[in-house]
Amino acid sequence: MTVPSYRIGSIPGDGIGLEVISAAIEVVRKLSSTLKTFSIEFTDLPWGSDYWKKTGSYVPEDYLETYRKFDASLFGSVGAPDVPDHVSLWGLLLAIRSPLQLFANVRPVRTFPGTKSPLANPPPEGIDWVLVRENSEGEYSGHGGRSHVGQPWEVATEVAIFTRVGVVRILRFAFETAQSRPRKHLTVVSKSNSLRNGLVLWDEVAAEVARDFPDVTWDKTLVDAMTIRMVNNPHTIDTIVGTNLHMDILSDLAASLAGSIGIAASSNLDPTRKNPSMFEPVHGSAFDITGKGLANPLGAIWSAADMLTWLGEAPAADHLMECVKAVCRAGILTADLGGNAKTQDVVNAICEEIEHRG
Ligand code: NAI
Ligand code: MG
Repeated sequence: MTVPSYRIGSIPGDGIGLEVISAAIEVVRKLSSTLKTFSIEFTDLPWGSDYWKKTGSYVPEDYLETYRKFDASLFGSVGAPDVPDHVSLWGLLLAIRSPLQLFANVRPVRTFPGTKSPLANPPPEGIDWVLVRENSEGEYSGHGGRSHVGQPWEVATEVAIFTRVGVVRILRFAFETAQSRPRKHLTVVSKSNSLRNGLVLWDEVAAEVARDFPDVTWDKTLVDAMTIRMVNNPHTIDTIVGTNLHMDILSDLAASLAGSIGIAASSNLDPTRKNPSMFEPVHGSAFDITGKGLANPLGAIWSAADMLTWLGEAPAADHLMECVKAVCRAGILTADLGGNAKTQDVVNAICEEIEHRG
């Protein structure tokens, strides 16, 4: 029997990105060879800070052409201690997200069995949120500049760009995401009290789009108040949508409230499916634990599961996540989750669970 086969571009990048992507690939290969319902091939793309140090660029000139040949990509992290962060981020990650219009960044947040929320009163059934981040414009449009550099009268501008096209498509995507979930509730994060142009457009479009989703209940919360709501009233939250910067910050908070940044997964989607979507853990290169075998691989593994779902392999992805939960339940956890397992211990345990379940 022929089964669907997928070609994945693997971009481990820097730091613990290499450790968690090799972990995710090992687990997905085990899943594929055990279930035999799909086949998958990973091609290593050695783009990152070492590549930059050798060539002066994070990616080769024809990188978009190379990238477009894959069905999807798995990304680790980018950032090195001896490279300015804006050089590495714009050199690689944003150089993929922006030109390919991977405009919807979906960041699910969940407490797993055996993992603990630092909240005093977490929702009784655990945290189960989906954060939707605008991923192509807003505060990260790269619009602005510096002049009179080094002078006392130096000027720097960072202009946030909000286009009606960009705002409509992300809010529509967020309402659809909320609609697909049991609670059908969306919180629109804003800051339209002080940001009186872009975020007023954002609010107006939210109200317009909401009319097309009568079965979705929704509310609006200013971003500063949202941090309070996430800590004090987490049970009132289901799906959240916000701008590029706001959700970058709120998703780190959400991940910590669910147990650790090490579990957090994300999908950079082109919902039109014209370009291959990119899947990556939310965390960065984590220089403090690089090379020590301490990195939690679950964020990368969960991202790989979301990639399989996107490719049409939801049963395999669900199976993988059940194996992950079983391993968490058994207490095989890395240090960030209060355990003493190493990265490879978690990978081995998940592979054994896949083997065991058949
Ligand atoms: P970070 O996410 O790398 O680390 C923050 C803290 O979380 C550190 O204490 C780290 O040890 C811990 N941590 C992160 N991932 C973990 C994991 N899987 N398991 C256990 N602990 C984990 O963020 P930071 O320190 O702000 O940035 C480090 C570098 O990474 C910088 O160069 C930054 O620009 C880059 N970065 C890249 C991102 C990306 O490629 N998507 C995202 C965030 C940061
Ligand atoms: Mg971030």
